[in-house]
Parts: sequence; structure tokens; C-alpha cells
Amino acid sequence: MGTVIGEEAGKLTVVVDSEERTDTYKASDTFGYREFAILPDMIGLPELHEATLLHNLRLRYMNDDIYTYIGPMVVSVNPYKKLAIYDEKLIPLYQSKPRDELPPHLYSIANKAFQALVQLGQSQSVVISGESGAGKTEATKYVLKFLTTVAATSTSGSKMDLASRILATNPVLEAFGNAKTVRNNNSSRFGKFIKIAFDTTGGIMGSRIDNYLLEQTRIVHQAPIERNYHVFYQLITGASDEEKQKFNLLDSPDEYAYLCNGHMEVEGIDDKADWANLKKAMTTLQISQSDQDAYFSLLSGILHLGNIEFRGVERNGMVEAHVVDEDLIKTVAALFGLEPLAGLLKQSLTTRKVSAGVRSSTASVPFNLEQAIENRDALAKAVYTKLFDNLVLQLNKHLIDGEYPTTSKFIGVLDIYGFEKFTENSLEQFCINYANEKLHNQFNEHIFHAEQMEYKNEGVEWNTIEFVDNKATISLIEGSGGLLTMLDEECKVPKGSDKTYLDKVKQKHKLNSMLQFPMKTPDEFIINHYAEPVNYDVNGFLNKNRDKFSNDVITLMTNSSMPLLKALFRDSATLSSSDDNVTSNRPLRGGMNLSRATSTNSPSKRVDTTVTKKFSTSLAELVTTLASSNRHYVRCLKPNNKAVPKLFLGEKLLGQLRSNGVLETVKLRKAGFANRIITDTFVKRYDILPGLTSSEPKHIRKFLERLVPPKEWAIGHTKVFLRNDGMELLEKKRTEFIAQSLVSIQNHIRSWRAQNKLIKLRIQRERRIAAATVFQKLIRAFYAKRLLIRLILAMKKRRNDAALVIQRYSRSFNSWSVLVVLKEEWLKLQATKAIQAQIRRYCAINRLLDLEEEARFRKAQEELRERYQIAAVIGQRLIRGYNATMKMYRIEYEIEQERKRKEEEERRRIEEERRRREEEERRR
Ligand SMILES: Nc1ncnc2c1ncn2[C@@H]1O[C@H](COP(=O)(O)OP(=O)(O)OP(=O)(O)O)[C@@H](O)[C@H]1O
Ligand SMILES: [Mg+2]
Repeated sequence: MGTVIGEEAGKLTVVVDSEERTDTYKASDTFGYREFAILPDMIGLPELHEATLLHNLRLRYMNDDIYTYIGPMVVSVNPYKKLAIYDEKLIPLYQSKPRDELPPHLYSIANKAFQALVQLGQSQSVVISGESGAGKTEATKYVLKFLTTVAATSTSGSKMDLASRILATNPVLEAFGNAKTVRNNNSSRFGKFIKIAFDTTGGIMGSRIDNYLLEQTRIVHQAPIERNYHVFYQLITGASDEEKQKFNLLDSPDEYAYLCNGHMEVEGIDDKADWANLKKAMTTLQISQSDQDAYFSLLSGILHLGNIEFRGVERNGMVEAHVVDEDLIKTVAALFGLEPLAGLLKQSLTTRKVSAGVRSSTASVPFNLEQAIENRDALAKAVYTKLFDNLVLQLNKHLIDGEYPTTSKFIGVLDIYGFEKFTENSLEQFCINYANEKLHNQFNEHIFHAEQMEYKNEGVEWNTIEFVDNKATISLIEGSGGLLTMLDEECKVPKGSDKTYLDKVKQKHKLNSMLQFPMKTPDEFIINHYAEPVNYDVNGFLNKNRDKFSNDVITLMTNSSMPLLKALFRDSATLSSSDDNVTSNRPLRGGMNLSRATSTNSPSKRVDTTVTKKFSTSLAELVTTLASSNRHYVRCLKPNNKAVPKLFLGEKLLGQLRSNGVLETVKLRKAGFANRIITDTFVKRYDILPGLTSSEPKHIRKFLERLVPPKEWAIGHTKVFLRNDGMELLEKKRTEFIAQSLVSIQNHIRSWRAQNKLIKLRIQRERRIAAATVFQKLIRAFYAKRLLIRLILAMKKRRNDAALVIQRYSRSFNSWSVLVVLKEEWLKLQATKAIQAQIRRYCAINRLLDLEEEARFRKAQEELRERYQIAAVIGQRLIRGYNATMKMYRIEYEIEQERKRKEEEERRRIEEERRRREEEERRR
């Protein structure tokens, strides 16, 4: 929450959100943050308290990791900037990968809901809560985007465009139901529960939207720097000239009294572009042009109605309200399809009818100025809220072909206003906080009571965890004799007022510890809500609760020539009250009789109902629907009030964490068995693992004893309970087993391929060896032959040379003999010379022979070198062949080793199995 900067006398000085404070903090609420690991799931936090939770969230947030798990729940901190984590490409990832392998995300929650729906056939709900501006509506859109995308593959052709229709409801609902407030530029001023019905394969069958409690006061008045509903601004700035003429629109929002703050630019909102989107979405949703025109005509009518002003005219000592500009009445009448009834419209805006005492006789009583304004505004609010309800009905018609399949399984996404506390709180905040009490109670029921009860019912041991129960507050509000019943009763009591209501409440509940009555503000009571105490000002409670306007107005509206307006008021119910108990049987202009109109257009029986009654009924229905489904919770948190990124105000976050029960959830989830699986489902999932053969508890026990540590699981009467670690271990074993089976199959395939390869290698090697042998033979033969030829040639040459030498010698001897015979002396000399010459020749011949011999030797050397080179090439080839053969032998050897290892494993497993059986038999 903050950083400790000093300690003195048991008090710590802490810097919280850059503000320095000194206070008493528990030592257990401090921690050494350096040892702290950032975790995507806070269930795993080693130290578990507010400080660690907050610190973990802060570190993640600063790193743009806005989602964090707390067991099955997701906490989301508004980043106030666009993050690249919603790409459609991520959807298949979150669909296929285990939760732990990806960063926490809404897609993961949505995927869990979808998988549970398809696999277990159970309806699911995603409950998204948080204070205004925390990011609920954005989160809803991402969940819907995920669901419509993953369902598209299983959705049949004729229903394919249902997904786009579901998404198209967003711009329409946001235009009519969202507005700029001080806390959020696009604040939803209504609650919604979107249900998507799926078939058994996960294909979309249809969808339905339930809406809750649209804020009404905004239609006629807005606080400074706030706006009315977006659609008014879109209509005025976006409409074409032709449309402006058709709907009689003025040029600027400044010209309308109901758009009090006039033309206001809102950051991040482009009214013109949104108008185009709205029309496009309405077309996608197949809302006809005439219906669209009717909606816009009524919107324009409401705005002109707000411009009708009254002036006070004194008569008989009373001030009567008179319309200032009669033309405006005509404009409104035209836009409401009441052209011939403009006079009646004016009358109903300025007077009311009261019973004159005699049966069927009535008298008109003029409104004073205040009453006329109140009456005008009541009509504007009624038309808009009914129009909004009708719009949702229209959307629902186009979200399904035929009737909504109530028996089908669904995934519902709830985007509902969070807990509210302002300086002044009225009936609206009372209803909103009541809804939050109910939902929080269900969350408590779900997370705490239900868990404990389930453990108890299943006969599993469980240590109770303490938590704050808000049942007493709910009972104070909705119980018999509670605040709601008393309010309804006071609305029926003649002369009942806000003050009499408060007095009665004080009287009845003065001892209730959930309620306080502040002395300083006598018109208020304070309810101690689960989140924090809220003071409610009762002024206006009764009027808001009655939500009534005169029967004349209802009658008038049901006589509109515009079918839409007729339909809006057809089912209107009004409260009978002492000062408004008149039914107007007077024929209307145009010949229509009210009694006929009532009998044909209105329910024959008047329904006495109030705003809070309607609200609590729809709330009860919602709670029942949620209870019938498997719930997933998304808690949206707002990090600051400035709507800026990277500003994490610890104290603000802490308040939200406390009020939405996040801390208790962490404790409980950590302490309890987070996973509960029906035994049959458990067996179906894990019978793939050896040892699980039946759903008999003793078999499951044995199976779990073998695989999971004892503190990680428990077996109930109908379910198997697992802590997160135990579940993870089991899942891991299952995945490993599947992977092992796959590996074994792959091994077989690989071994078969290796054998094939081996055979091929062998054939290749044999062929290569045969080829090499033949080649070597040929080479050897070639060289031998060449050598032989050379030797023969060399011998021949030598023989010739020798013959020549002999011939020369013989010729020399002959010459020498002649010399002796002829001239002994002279010849002796000559002979000597001749002999010398012969000797020299002989020497020269010898030298020549030596040179020839040397040349031959060199040549032979070269030939030898060539041969060596060829032999080296052949040698390399032979080495490569040898290596290939060795590799082949190695592969053969590895295959053989693998086969032996498996045989050994199998032998050991059989041995173990045999020993285990013997052991069992021995034990028995
Ligand atoms: N995931 C997100 N990524 C980016 N911006 C976001 C995200 N969630 C919310 N925001 C911003 O915060 C604003 C308020 O969010 P959103 O309208 O969803 O709040 P909310 O909880 O529905 O409030 P309200 O109760 O008033 O309707 C959005 O307009 C958007 O600017
Ligand atoms: Mg919203």
C-alpha cells in the first residue's frame, strides 16, 4: 500500500501514494518487497495479506500486465491505454494452451466457461463487477468477442451472422444507455445481462439481453461536465439535412434545455462517427428503417418537450401553469404522432383530473409551475425509458430466430454497475447498492457458504474460514417489514410522504445495527453496506418509486398514430393513489373511446407496481439465473480517478479489493480444495492412466494414493476434491502419459523407418563395394597393361641400341685390322687415333645410354605419382563407404539397445504388478 520510511514507538511512518502518514500498522501488514516474486496467480503468494496482494498487482500493472488470477477469478486493473493483448490471433492460443502457459487474460476465463459448457453441458455465467470506470463494459466486449469467435466454427450456416448481430448490439446499447459522467466518459447507465444460448456442439443458437434500471434523472438534467445519453448528441451532430428536416432537429445541442451543458466535446468520443456506427449496427440487427425513424422521431420529441416552458398565471389566488410557446406543443405532437391531439397534449401537460365525488364525474385541476415542470419531465423520462426497454426487446427479436430456447445451455455475461457512494445518494444509489449487496451475497454464498456446505454434504473435513456475511443488510432492505416493503406501503398510503416514510423506518428499525439515523442530517438514513456505510437522502423517494404520471397521459400516448409510441404505453401500469384515481372515460378527439382503447391496448387488469418492486423482481430473477449456472468472476479495479495510465493509487485499489471480497477469496481458495469433480467425470477423464478402473471410492482412493500426496485430495460421497497442486499433478501425469503413448507410437514409426533405411543402406553398401571392386580391378588391369607395354617398348629399344653398339664395335675392329696390314707405322698412329676416337665414342654412347636411363626413371617416377593420386581418391571413397557402414551398425546397435530397454522396463513393470498383486493378496 505504501513504503515504510520510519518507525517510532510502535508507529510506522509510511508514504502512501506520495503522501506521508504516520499511523499504527500491524507488523504482519509489512513485508520486505525485495524478496517478493511477481505472480500471475495470487493464490501462490507465500505471504498472504493486503500488502502483498496490492504489491503484486502494482508490479504487474506497471508492467502492463493488467490481469491477475486469484484461483478461478480474474482481477483486472484498468490500463487507461490501448494494449496489444486482444488480437484475434491470441484467441486460438487461449483455446488450446493450458492456463498456466499464457499470461492471465479474460480470454482464459471465457475459454474456461466455453469449454465447461461444451464438455460438461452446464450453463455458465461471467459476472463482471467493479466501480464506475473500472472497465466492466470493455471486459464484457472482450468476453463476447472471444465467445462469438470460438463458437463461429461450430455455428451452422443459417446462424452464422448471429455472432455479428450479438456484437452489433454494443454500439446500439451504448448510444442509448451510456453517457459521459464525472467518473467515466462512456459510463453505462443501466445494467445488462447478455445470455448466449449454445447447442451441444458449442454453436450459437441465439442470444438475449436483460437490462436493469436505466438511470432516469439524466434524461432531464445532468450535473456539471456531464452529458445526457450519447444518442441525443449523435442524432444532432450526425443526422443528414434530410434527417434533420424529418425529425425537426435544431442545429446544436446548445438549443435544447434537456442537454443542459450544451455542446460538449468529450475526449475519445466522436459523435458523428458514432452516429454512423449506430445506424450501421441497427441495419446489421435488421431494425427496419421505419422503426429507426420512429425511435429518432421520439428522441427529437423528447428534446422539444424539454424546451416547453411554463409561465404562471394567477387565478382565484392560485398560480396556474400556462404553456409559453404553443408552437412547441404542435412540434412535440407531430413528432409523437399526436398531431390531431395537440390540444389534449397541452391539457395533460398543464392540468390533472381528479374525481369530483360523483361516480364517473371528474374535474380538471391546473398544475402550478413546479407541478407542470415535474409532469413534463416525468413524461420525457417515461417515453425515454420505455423506448429503451422497447429497443432491447427489438434487439432480442433479432438475436434469435423464433423463441429463445430456454432449455438450452447458455453463457451469460453480466455487466452491472458497481457499488456507489456520492455526497448525495437517492433512490437510484439505493437500488444500485441493493443489487450489489445481492450479488455480493451470492458471491459469498458461492465462494464461502456453498463451499463449506459442499464439503460438509460430501463428508469432507473442512476448517471454517471467517468472513463478513451481509445477510443482515439484505434482510433489512428486502425482508418483510424491510425498507423496500415499507416504501411500497408508504406509496399507497393517503398523504404518504418521504418524511412519514422516514419516520416509520426510524420507528421500526431503530435498533437495527445495520441502520443509523444521523442527527445532523434528519432527512437521511445510513445503511452499513458490506463495502462501506452510505447515507441516503429520502427526499424524492416516494415520487421516484411511484414513477407515475396521469392516466390521461397514458391514454393520450396509446392514441398516437405512431405504432411504436402506442406499444410503449400499452402495457403501462400506474399506481392508484388517492390524488390520482381517475380513469378518463371521455371519448378522445378522433372518436376513440378510452374504455375501448384500454380494453384493446392495455392489460385488462391494472398492475400495482413500483420502480423498486419491478427492480427487485428482475434482480431476483437474475440471481436465480446466475445461481442455476456455473459462475466465473471478473473483478474490475480502477487504479485512479484521473483516467490516466500508469498511475496506481494503492489506497484507492485497497478499498476496492476490500469491498469486493478479493482478499477473502484468496484465503479461502488457498485453504480449500479449489477443484471438485463428479466421480464419473473424474473416472472418464483419468481412466486413461493405469490403475483407475471404476468410480468406486475405494478404487479412486487407491489410484490417488499412488499418484497424489494425501493432503492434496479428498473423496466425497459424489465428488473428488483436489487442491490446485494435486490437480496440476494429476493433469501433468495425464499429459505425460498421453505424451508417452505418443512417443511410443512415434518410436515405432521411427524404428520402422530406421529399419527401412538400414536395409537401403545395406543394399547401397553392397552395391558400392561391388562397384569399387570392379573398378579397382579395371584400374589395376589398366596400369598393369600400360606398364607391360612400356617395358616391352623399353626392352626393344635397348636391344636396338645394343645391336648398334655391337655393329660399331665390329666396324671399328675391321678398320683396325686393315690399318695393321697397310701401313704399320703411319697406320699405327692412325690406328691410335682411331682407337682413341672409338674410345671417346664408346664413352659418349655410354653417357647417352645413362641419360636415356635417367629420363626413363623420371618418367616412371611421374607415373608412380599419378598412380598414388588415383589410389588416394579411391582410398577416400572407400573410407566414406566404411564410415557409412559404421553409422549403420551404430543405428542397428541403438535400436537393439532401445528394444532391450523397453523389454527390461516392461519386465520390471510386470514384476512390480505381480509383486503388488501378491502383496494385496497377502494383505487380504
Ligand atoms: N482493457 C482496457 N484497455 C484499455 N482501456 C480500457 C480497458 N478497460 C477500460 N478501459 C478504459 O476505461 C474506460 C472505462 O471503461 P468502462 O466503460 O468499461 O468502465 P465501466 O466499468 O463499464 O464503467 P461504468 O460502470 O461507468 O459503465 C473505457 O472507456 C476505456 O477508455
Ligand atoms: Mg460500463
